[in-house]
Amino acid sequence: MLKFENVTKEFEDGFKAVDSVSFEIKEGELLVLIGPSGSGKSTTMKMINRVISHTSGAITINGKDNKSYNVAELRRNIGYVIQQIGLFPHYTIQKNIAIVPQLKGWKTNDIITRVTELLELVGLDPETYANRYPKELSGGQQQRIGIARALSANPDIILMDEPFSALDPITRDQLQGELISLHKKLKKTIVFVTHDMDEALKMGDRIAIMKGGKLLQIDTPEKILREPAHGFVEEFIGKHRIIQNPGLMPVTDILAESIITSLPQRSPETAISLIRKHKTTNLVIADESNKLLGIVTAHDIMKNLDGIQHISEIMIPAEPYLLKSATAKEAIIMMDCAPLGMIPVVDNAHKIIGLVTRGSLLSAMSSQWTEMEADLVE
Ligand SMILES: Nc1ncnc2c1ncn2[C@@H]1O[C@H](COP(=O)(O)OP(=O)(O)OP(=O)(O)O)[C@@H](O)[C@H]1O
Ligand SMILES: [Mg+2]
Repeated sequence: MLKFENVTKEFEDGFKAVDSVSFEIKEGELLVLIGPSGSGKSTTMKMINRVISHTSGAITINGKDNKSYNVAELRRNIGYVIQQIGLFPHYTIQKNIAIVPQLKGWKTNDIITRVTELLELVGLDPETYANRYPKELSGGQQQRIGIARALSANPDIILMDEPFSALDPITRDQLQGELISLHKKLKKTIVFVTHDMDEALKMGDRIAIMKGGKLLQIDTPEKILREPAHGFVEEFIGKHRIIQNPGLMPVTDILAESIITSLPQRSPETAISLIRKHKTTNLVIADESNKLLGIVTAHDIMKNLDGIQHISEIMIPAEPYLLKSATAKEAIIMMDCAPLGMIPVVDNAHKIIGLVTRGSLLSAMSSQWTEMEADLVE
């Protein structure tokens, strides 16, 4: 949906901030751009909505050259969130969020409905916040408004340039989590810039690593950890390197803390309340004896809320899955082709033992290093 072909940005002084970069982003994908300061991340991002124009190569959006769009039109259809939020101080929150819909000529009633919906979506009570001014909000709340504003006109693409880097670690962690679930729900194509590897591993469907204007590697987090394509990448992922042999580690050592299962005969309403309560996106379906039957996604439940009686009607096969005798290495390899980012683990009788998720995999990989580090220090 978004394609860079040999894109270069050469400034007037002859400096190439971005040097012949090519990559493609699929619709609904969250791509993280990471690299040291000055590596060209922001320039790469700004060329998408033409805040900076590229000097050679081509950027296409849905097959159409981005230079063939009217600039104002292009920017209105691409959400943009930056570190220093950029809310207008003399506008209320409502007005700040409504800027693009207003420019697009939406009806007042539609705008009010949309603002309310967006405030709820980013976890802020519309009654409390709609008429406040930016300075009356905390940094984290302001950044939520920034996200709501970027979503306001329902763009297909959202660009986020270090949106959370000015926040304290706890708020940051919380907003990262919220953005992940928002992304799952709305399926927007997101380009997210950071220079924090933890953030990149947590957020990215894929991670693109830049240095000196060049794109060094673009891969899934698992692949980057497993096969860093370049000495610099290896150095950059630092503590996250898999330094022990995951082929020797049992998959049962890297299970997620909890697994939410449901019986197949549950109603969609019950399933949704389970999903809400446990803040999960999918339910693993098991019978009374805990045998694995399938998976139901929150998305499918919401879509079929009125059309079905039991969630078994929209159950999909729980594939891939692993036997408990498998190793972490097998889970790492399999994760690349696990569409929901989760792999159930079962015993020989097909009873559920647990679940490997991308999160559990990644945290197991990095905690392993922390343990090793501690060993080395002792
Ligand atoms: N107008 C300009 N003229 C010349 N060089 C520029 C210009 N604007 C940016 N640069 C240079 O381009 C390079 C890439 O800048 P960019 O802002 O893309 O980096 P970045 O990866 O986002 O860094 P950071 O992590 O610090 O935000 C930097 O070396 C910067 O100095
Ligand atoms: Mg930058």
